[in-house]
Amino acid sequence: MSSEFHSAVVSPTGTWWKPAHKQEKRWITIAFIWCLVLFAMMPFWHIRGGQNPTGIRSRVKPTDYMARVQRFVNDYKVGEEKGFAVVEPPAGSDIYLMAQMWRWWPILKLKKNVEYTLHLSSLDVNHGFSLFPVNVNIQVVPGYDYALKITPNQAGELRIICNEFCGIGHHTMIGKIIVEE
Ligand code: CUA
Repeated sequence: MSSEFHSAVVSPTGTWWKPAHKQEKRWITIAFIWCLVLFAMMPFWHIRGGQNPTGIRSRVKPTDYMARVQRFVNDYKVGEEKGFAVVEPPAGSDIYLMAQMWRWWPILKLKKNVEYTLHLSSLDVNHGFSLFPVNVNIQVVPGYDYALKITPNQAGELRIICNEFCGIGHHTMIGKIIVEE
């Protein structure tokens, strides 16, 4: 039989079925140990560097969350941009952002070096809150209000990109946070 032709009955040429070389075993061991090190680092990153933050979680019905956001918008709305409410909340307050196919609502206007409690929830499906260019990533899940203490430390316009595929308009789901000096 020609060595060019392989079927399920004829094994291909090669050495893949032979026992792993000593070097290969060594590298698999190193990779496995490294996995364990990274796993152990997860609680460490929580304490150092502010990664893996602790959020404040509570259950919320999407309609109730929408009512909360609407109240927040009514209280602190300062303008509008392309039909999106621009909201400037007072320092230290609870601020709300709602994810919905396919928008982030409203536009937040914040002050640099001021602490806020940012609430996130979705009205429909899972969305991904991804803040550019600072690389903050949070899952936005319907039925849960996930809140985080945040202090913007740089002025400018930040984009919120959805990083969880949420349907046909996923790529258009872009929001905005304005941080002023
Ligand atoms: Cu929302 Cu993708």
